[in-house]
Amino acid sequence: MTPQDMKAELKALGALVEGRLATVFADGGTPAHLVASMDYSLMAGGKRLRPVLCLAWAELVGGRLDEVLDFACAIECIHTYSLIHDDLPAMDDDDLRRGKPSNHRQFDEATAILAGDGLLTEAFTLASALILPAERVLKAIFHLSTAAGPRGMVGGQVLDMDLTGKGADLSLLRTMHAMKTGALIESSCVTGCILGGGDEAALARASEYGQAVGLAFQVTDDILDVVGDTADLGKPAGSDEARGKSTYPALMGIDRSRALACESVDRAVGALDGFSHPRADFLRAVAGYILDRTH
Ligand code: IPE
Ligand code: IPE
Ligand code: MG
Ligand code: MG
Ligand code: MG
Repeated sequence: MTPQDMKAELKALGALVEGRLATVFADGGTPAHLVASMDYSLMAGGKRLRPVLCLAWAELVGGRLDEVLDFACAIECIHTYSLIHDDLPAMDDDDLRRGKPSNHRQFDEATAILAGDGLLTEAFTLASALILPAERVLKAIFHLSTAAGPRGMVGGQVLDMDLTGKGADLSLLRTMHAMKTGALIESSCVTGCILGGGDEAALARASEYGQAVGLAFQVTDDILDVVGDTADLGKPAGSDEARGKSTYPALMGIDRSRALACESVDRAVGALDGFSHPRADFLRAVAGYILDRTH
């Protein structure tokens, strides 16, 4: 698959996700100010990588996009909440996100905290209303909540805060990346595979692919923070160094960080060996795109 075809497919799946996200809070019963704040961040763009991975893994193992779409949107709600909270003054204190003022700058801190809480909780309303066999849905929700919570992303964000201003060794950095970013990306793949009806062997491949893509993704995010451009990134370049964050580029420099991200992408591609469904090619191309992206 050419990079152009992959990008077109990424856009098409992303548009499907956005179309559904736009309707999530349309049924009323939610304070207008809260909806405005949640939708502000949810609909601000974003690459929609995690929901697209979920949809693609579901299709790879025989699932249907329409059956999994709400779960994919749930993942994007969790991701968006994590970005709103990540930018808060008590955390990374960043003023720009997805090319717009961060949520707490556009609204206020209390609203941003509650918008994050709202999106996190709404994710489980969406996920639990899925029309698929209950055992699959329950297994996927268990996986997602574990990945997003204290054993995954939230725990990783705590390690990130703990390590700010301190040097971290490679093993600690790897653990932090695996938790704060890897867990949700891995879970996007694994839950797609669960909901699509994948067997244990496919689940193991989804997990391996997701972990490898997750590591490459955060290492690239750290590299882009150093070499990227604020306008391209849609978030402030140079933020990590200014805050004394522990990152791969800070520990091993840009070149070795790039080499490590490359190795990780090779591992992700290897996890797809033996899959002949057209979605396997797409997932291989997406893994490569992680390294080449500029935002
Ligand atoms: C940014 O994620 C936060 C990280 C975990 C590195 P993305 O780069 O996927 O952000 P959006 O969704 O495209 O804005
Ligand atoms: C974010 O890591 C991880 C999250 C779980 C949100 P960063 O703090 O590096 O993400 P950006 O660079 O602000 O998007
Ligand atoms: Mg952060
Ligand atoms: Mg941040
Ligand atoms: Mg970053």
